Amino acid sequence: MLNKGLYNAMITSVGHYVPDRVISNKFFEEYLDTSDEWIRTRTGIQERRRLDKDIPTSFMAVKAIEKLLQNRGIGIEEIDLIIVGTVTPDMIYPSTACIIQEKMGATNAWGFDLMAACSGFIFSLTTAIQFIQSGSHKKVIVVGADKMSAITNMEDRNTCLLFGDAAGAVLLEPTEDKTYGIQDAIMHIDGKGGKYLHQLGGGSLHPASHETVDKRMHFVYQDGKTVFKEAVKGMADVSYQIMKNNKLKPEDISYLVPHQANLRIITACADRMGISMDKVMVNIHKYGNTTSATIPTCISEYWHEGKIKKGDNLVLSSFGAGYTWGSILLKWAY
Ligand code: COA
Repeated sequence: MLNKGLYNAMITSVGHYVPDRVISNKFFEEYLDTSDEWIRTRTGIQERRRLDKDIPTSFMAVKAIEKLLQNRGIGIEEIDLIIVGTVTPDMIYPSTACIIQEKMGATNAWGFDLMAACSGFIFSLTTAIQFIQSGSHKKVIVVGADKMSAITNMEDRNTCLLFGDAAGAVLLEPTEDKTYGIQDAIMHIDGKGGKYLHQLGGGSLHPASHETVDKRMHFVYQDGKTVFKEAVKGMADVSYQIMKNNKLKPEDISYLVPHQANLRIITACADRMGISMDKVMVNIHKYGNTTSATIPTCISEYWHEGKIKKGDNLVLSSFGAGYTWGSILLKWAY
């Protein structure tokens, strides 16, 4: 249970960015032993977006933040803190937060990157909440941004068709009305999952070498079947738990905002919560799995379409490499 401070943290603006280049399932049919039908039925993905080779993750994050600032009608100088959830930083260091800060001229902000794979956004959001609740920060940006095309092996049919590139951002501000904003958060990690989903190369254990390149250790590895089972259980359990802890019935939930890894994981989660699919935010068919970006991109798209209204209860849930998983409950405030 979230330990409430002086204020509640509420989302007061959103923005997202997806690259223009669309990669359809047909693209993979042309050179891999796969089919549009297999990809659609096993994952729910129809197409995904790809950023150009020489453009980094920070480019998409900046675009998402520009939209967010425009929607709120404020300048970047008002921002106190920028937290970036990503597994595809522009480089190991400096952090992507520093790069964004410099690119945008965010002269009054500090910031850092947070790595929790597909849970990167909700772990970052949970971290950001603390700075708002304590009263120490007034405007905090949380970005989930990933250029997954930079770390996917295009010859591996088990992974290459799952991922896409995108960025989504939210602005957090304090409210004294504690009925609004983020109400609860449950986060978990379990390092036993590391062997089933990882990128081994490039860290201090396996620094970049001819060998790490030859062995394709700079790409995503996933034992899909094992991760699938854990994801179904982990995401459904934690989503159900947050409902139970807050005495919410299915009819009290306006939207489930699930991490978009596989449509079958999403429907299993909705089933467990007892909610129908019309209350589930879905964009996996258009973008695939964009890792840290899936949840903020969904929220931003639905908001721009006028589908979220003040007072709506949203449950944000994710599961990813680590393993990392968790759920956040919030009441939409604007
Ligand atoms: N095209 C066609 N066939 C494929 C394929 C592809 N791209 N990839 C795998 N297959 C084959 C397999 O070889 C297997 O064939 P076999 O039965 O003859 O051995 C069959 O399809 C089923 O493979 P399987 O791995 O069991 O598929 P699946 O139903 O588990 O779906 C994933 C694969 C990756 C889509 C699914 O496991 C998944 O979504 N995993 C979890 C992803 C996730 O949540 N990650 C965490 C966050 S990133």
